[in-house]
Amino acid sequence: MNNYKIGVFDSGLGGLSVLKELINTLPNEDYLFYEDSINNPYGEKTEEELLKITSNIVNYLLEQKCKIIVIACNTATTSCMKKLREIYEDTIFVGTVPAIKVAYDNNYKNVINLSTPYTQNSKRVCELINDFKNDDENIYNISGENLANLIELNKKEEIDELLNKLLSSYKDKCDALVLGCTHYSLIKDEIKKVLPNVALLDGCTGVANEVKRQLENNHLLSDRKGKGTLEIINTKSNILIERSMEILSK
Ligand code: DGL
Repeated sequence: MNNYKIGVFDSGLGGLSVLKELINTLPNEDYLFYEDSINNPYGEKTEEELLKITSNIVNYLLEQKCKIIVIACNTATTSCMKKLREIYEDTIFVGTVPAIKVAYDNNYKNVINLSTPYTQNSKRVCELINDFKNDDENIYNISGENLANLIELNKKEEIDELLNKLLSSYKDKCDALVLGCTHYSLIKDEIKKVLPNVALLDGCTGVANEVKRQLENNHLLSDRKGKGTLEIINTKSNILIERSMEILSK
């Protein structure tokens, strides 16, 4: 089973930010990345819809003999990971949650959490804020409604407009912004234009380290010497696979 693949999924291109970090950390592994662009945006769906969609993806990844499944999506993690672990009890799942803990561990005092509408309102984000926030810290929990969809469609002007609308009033109020949706890691430069002095934090390194730890603990690390393979599937269009390869090569 050691040379089975690592399965990774997201509602589209956002998961590439996690995948990139995984490949850097575990270059000898084989990867199967499932981009579910046809169902984007996940962040504007219900828990019931998301469980149906994500169960179908997990079934597919298990059929393809994945040894671990990485949910490279904050929305799918906060909505469904607990249930998926119950349904697929022999499968190892690693999820992605907004890096709110990282912000506080690094002593940032005024932090924006920017995530999808689903994640913003989720119980998990509420817990992360309550568990890690100290009295002298402020968190602004903001919803990036429609932002993941615009990133997926590569609508550059509309992305800039929406970021201005959502973030410009925080310019002098914040020292860090948590990229609480994996799609947002793809627009760091655009966010920097609105908030030039704000640190941008994501959970990608944490996810990659956790995958490594899980594979080590379960004796599942690949024994291959050379570089592993990468297969990308996109549920909407092969053109998005080309765009993904381009993003990965940057
Ligand atoms: N990339 C996903 C996340 O991290 C969700 C984007 C979406 O489909 O709404 O939440």
